[in-house]
Parts: sequence; structure tokens; C-alpha cells
Amino acid sequence: MAAYADVYRRSLAEPEAFWAEQAEALRWTKKWERVLDDANPPLYRWFAGGELNTCYNALDRWVDEGRGDQAALIYDSPVTQTVAQYTYRELRDRVAAFAGALRAQGVGRGDRVIVYMPMVPEAAIAMLACARIGAVHSVVFGGFAAPELAKRIDDAQPVLVVSASCGIEPGRLVEYKPLLDHALALATHKVARTIVLQRPQCRATLQAGRDLDWHEAVAAATPAECVPVAATDPLYVLYTSGTTGKPKGVVRDNGGHAVALRYSMKVVYDCDPGDVFWAASDVGWVVGHSYIVYGPLLAGCTTILYEGKPVGTPDAGAFWRVISQHRVKNFFTAPTAFRAIKKEDPHGALLKQYDLSGFKTLYLAGERCDPDTIEWARAQLQVPVIDNWWQTELGWPAIANPVGIETLPVKPGSAAVPVPGFDVRILDIDGKPAATGEIGNLVIKLPLPPGTLPTLWHNEQGYIDNYLSHYPGYYLAGDAGYVDEDGYFWVMSRIDDIINVAGHRLSTGSMEEVLASHPDVAECAVIGAADALKGQVPVGLVVLKAGVEKSAEQLSVELVARVREQIGAVAAFKQVAIVARLPKTRSGKVLRATMRAIADEKPYTAPATIDDPRTLEEINVVLTRMRNAVR
Ligand code: COA
Ligand code: AMP
Repeated sequence: MAAYADVYRRSLAEPEAFWAEQAEALRWTKKWERVLDDANPPLYRWFAGGELNTCYNALDRWVDEGRGDQAALIYDSPVTQTVAQYTYRELRDRVAAFAGALRAQGVGRGDRVIVYMPMVPEAAIAMLACARIGAVHSVVFGGFAAPELAKRIDDAQPVLVVSASCGIEPGRLVEYKPLLDHALALATHKVARTIVLQRPQCRATLQAGRDLDWHEAVAAATPAECVPVAATDPLYVLYTSGTTGKPKGVVRDNGGHAVALRYSMKVVYDCDPGDVFWAASDVGWVVGHSYIVYGPLLAGCTTILYEGKPVGTPDAGAFWRVISQHRVKNFFTAPTAFRAIKKEDPHGALLKQYDLSGFKTLYLAGERCDPDTIEWARAQLQVPVIDNWWQTELGWPAIANPVGIETLPVKPGSAAVPVPGFDVRILDIDGKPAATGEIGNLVIKLPLPPGTLPTLWHNEQGYIDNYLSHYPGYYLAGDAGYVDEDGYFWVMSRIDDIINVAGHRLSTGSMEEVLASHPDVAECAVIGAADALKGQVPVGLVVLKAGVEKSAEQLSVELVARVREQIGAVAAFKQVAIVARLPKTRSGKVLRATMRAIADEKPYTAPATIDDPRTLEEINVVLTRMRNAVR
């Protein structure tokens, strides 16, 4: 561990010198005045006084420095039978052209632009075009329904929304435009302009005077140059699930983000300029922002934007086909994708059809990775399998095997050690360091390194209250875990009501709000139950109002449909049970943790404060019945 330990120690002992060195690798239009502005704790700013343009560093820079003909982005779309390649020069020109189109519609520095798109190159182009003119993008995942999009429109207050006519899910087209129209009607904030990419699979109806066709908007515009912005200016806002129905707008700055992501491409993902890196995620998630778009391009790599699934497009060999066809060096996905592949092709028969000799390392993150999946992947692929822990808020891995410095022994189930810059600790309930092997709260000592959230969008107090107040001087991650005798961290579960379904972070609180709004529901709880494929799935438990005479089946259909319409298909909400009462304490607090333990088939004891122990027995019976029905 010597090499890693030295770098890690220095990153914490001399953070300013450490990060200034990393920042030298970027192109700045004005050098920073202070590496770390710590004048206003617990809030910190990196590279204060500096100016740069993120798009310049991701695209133009590489053209200017001789990589213009290298592939910057490969679009691989089994659902449309398309493979297309964009060199750095081509991507720069397309981004400049779309940036010109945005500017022609009045989008300027600091303005917000919402991007609601499927996995097409234009999604990345729209993001980079915003960065080019200093606008702030906010990408909304395509699997979210109109009301969720409307919430984000109201919070971000965009001047323009970029969208597409449709996305393609296996077996069905998802028409985006009706969802967008619905969201625009629901939102209080009025958006005057949209730009819509018409895809050949489905044409959207455009509203004259409000909606513009992507190609027409680009054809009419003059390409835009890069605008220098302050390092501390926001690059994007990405909404993520909190414990309530209101999503949190995680802010990412320009300077710290560019410095950190470029650094992470080497230290964690072991990529150098010219290497091909693939993150099979979606631009709507943080993994897509950091490792489909910004990280690989800031590092001069070739990135892959994949519009397909691990299985079914057309089979469980899809990932191996892409890795071999595009000579991918390192590949990143969520464990759930591997569980899906393992289920369909347990002996790796499809793997044998492809030449994977150029493939070096598999990275898994986004949810806890079960040791079985890691062992299976390693046995099949014969490459190191590297777990890494992070979150939307942090933007890049905080715990990982620092492969770019030295490869440490892999312990399946542990994401390994803190990444340079992150002072990760486990604290007990009183704020004291937890003993080795003892579960506690995962925290990171302030200041957080560059690239992490400086605040929440227009909600500084929310940032302080949610993350910085629990243990003064520390960032509270919301995960529980422990550290072992070798300094490896084991992240085990969330401490709140956030669940992780197929690598997607979802709030049970937002699902409860939807169920509670049904006229027949008196009260409800949604809990995450363990699922062999998706890690967790939501299960709704509802108590009906007196006198409701609908059948349980009918109500269940209505409630499932309601969550799909209000939150989206991505919630994967399919199971509801009607119960006589929810288990509660005598003071009326719903016993969620105990219900979660029952759902996960873990041992549990009824708390002494329980109001009526029979309520837990009923939950046990109901959840057991549901589990058996699924099996
Ligand atoms: N637009 C519209 N709908 C979407 C969508 C999108 N971008 N993404 C997913 N959905 C829909 C799916 O079609 C599905 O709809 P259905 O209920 O009609 O079947 C629903 O949302 C749930 O999707 P998902 O949870 O992804 O389940 P799945 O059964 O379709 O696929 C896996 C299971 C494991 C193959 C899939 O979840 C997967 O590829 N996971 C990888 C996870 C990942 O990349 N995470 C990103 C973080 S790293
Ligand atoms: P998201 O913000 O969507 O990236 O989700 C972040 C959350 O996913 C974390 O707080 C964890 O609960 C979980 N998570 C992500 N990566 C890992 C990992 N490698 N191991 C365990 N949990 C993880």
C-alpha cells in the first residue's frame, strides 16, 4: 500500500498543493487566486478567482493539441441498429453549432436549460453546448414521468428545454413529447422555448411559436465559441432523490469538477488519453454525467454512448460485443446489469464468441455489490473487478481501489480504500470514531475535495441541514458501513428511506406521497424489499379508509398505475398489499426499519415502544405471501 498511502496522506496533509498540481493539467483562461477558499465554513469553494471553460477542456483543447481526428464519442445503439463515431473535431463542431442555436434562443451565461432526452449523442451535445456558453444544464432521466419533470422545471426555472421525439425501450417506444407537454402544463414556471430532436422512429407534434426542430435551429444558427466562466460558477444541477418527494438539486461547479474528473480518470479508472472507456449508464444519472460525458472527454479518451440494455438487445452478449467491437479498455456498469447477464447466460457461453483481449478492468458501482456477482464476473472475464463507492452529491468515487496508483488486493463486498482527497470515516451515534468492524455512519471530513457538491441549487440551508449539521465538521453520506483492520471500507446500507432499484436511486417518501393522494388510502408506507435481480424493489403497504368497498386487486392496479404516471416506470413499483394497520410506536411513529428487516427476511425484534405487536405479525404474513408469489 506504500505508493497509495503516500499519495493519500499528501492529499489530506497538503490539499492546496496537491490539487493545484492536478489543476495544472487543465487549460485556464485565468489562474485561480486561491486553491481552497475556506473563508466561510462549513461551505468551501475550490479554485476561487480562476476562470476556464469546461467544454474547451473537454473538446477544443484536444483538437488544438493534435487529437482532432481521434474518436471522441462512439454512439452504439442496438435498439436502432446504429453505430456512429464522432472525432474530437466533429464533436466540437456539432457542440459549437448547437451552442449557437441555444444562444440564438436567448440562452446565456447562468441560464438553466433542462435536457430530457434518451441515450442519443445529441444529449451529450446539448450538455456540452450549455457548458460552452456558460449555461447551466439540468438533465432529467427519461424514465421519469411528467410530474417529476415538472418538479424539476419549477425548481431549476429553465429558459429552455431540450428534448427528443422518443426513446426506445425494448418492445416499446416512449414518446417524450406528450410527457414534456404535460410537464410544461403542470409546471408553475413557464418555459417559452423548447428544442426537439425528431427521431425517425416517431415524429413529435411541435407547437408553433414554442417548439423548434433541432436540425432547423442548428441550421439557422452561427456556431458559438467557448465563454470563460468562473471556476466556482455552476456547470450543472442534477436532481437526486432525497427522503421526501422533493428532489435535491445537486450543484456542480466548473473548475473543481474538471480538475477532479480528469484526476479520477487516471487514479480510479486507469485511463490515459487515447484509451477507450465505456460507462453503461444513462446521461440522466450522475454516472452518465461524470463517466459518459465529462470524465472521458476531459481526459482525452474515447467514450461510448450506448443505447441498449445488458440483456435483450439482442441478448446477454451485448456488453461483450460492444467491448470487443470498440476495443474498450475499461468498462463501468452497475452490479444489477451483471446479475441480469448472469441469470440469462450463467456459464458465459456468449462471452466466448468475442475477442476481449483488449479489455483490462471492470468497474461496478451505483449500489452495493454482492460478492457472488463480483466472483462470477471475475471468473468469467478474467480481469480485476473493481467496486467503487460514491453518490450523486460527490460526483466521483470517494472509496475505490486506486488502480491508477497501485492495485490493492480486492476484497469482494468492500469498495476498498478512500480515494485521495476524501477523508472518509465511520462515526458512532455520539460522533466518536467507530471501532474497527463496528457499523456506524459513513462521513467525510470537511472540506470535501474538488468536484463534490458546493451546495444545493438555491437551497444553501438545505445543504447545511441535510448533510453538514449532523456531525459538525463532517459531510453525512447517508450510508452505514464499517472499516476493517486493513483500512478497507464496507458500505452496507442506507440510513434513510432512499432505496436503490436496479442501480437507480429512488425515494420511498415520494412513492408514499403518491399512494397517500389516492382517495381510498388512509395511510401507507413504502419499503424496499431485497430482490435477487434489482437489489431492492419497492413494496407498498396501505391502510384503506373506512367504507371502501373496492377489491384489493382493483386498488392494487390503480395504485401501481398511479405511481407509474406520477413518478415513472423507473420506480418499478409493482407490489402493493392492503393491511389493517401499520405497525407503529405508541407515539405514532411508523416502524419502517422493522418492516424493512421483515421484508429482507432478517431477524427482528419488536421495539418495546410498539403500540400493538399484532400489526407486525400481519406485515410478516403479508410480505411472506408476496415473496412467495414472486418466487
Ligand atoms: N425511459 C423510459 N423508460 C425507462 C427508461 C428510460 N430511459 N429506463 C428504464 N425505463 C423503464 C423500463 O422500460 C421498465 O419499464 P417496464 O416496467 O414497462 O418494464 C422500467 O422503467 C423499469 O426499468 P428497470 O428498473 O431498468 O428494469 P428492467 O426490467 O427494464 O431492466 C436491467 C433490468 C437490470 C436490465 C436494467 O435495470 C439495467 O440495465 N440496469 C443497469 C442499471 C444502470 O445502468 N444504472 C445506472 C446507474 S450506474
Ligand atoms: P446515486 O446518488 O444514485 O449514485 O446513489 C448513491 C447511493 O448508492 C449511495 O449513497 C449508496 O447507498 C449506493 N451505492 C453506490 N455505490 C455503491 C457501492 N459501491 N457500494 C455500496 N453502495 C453503493
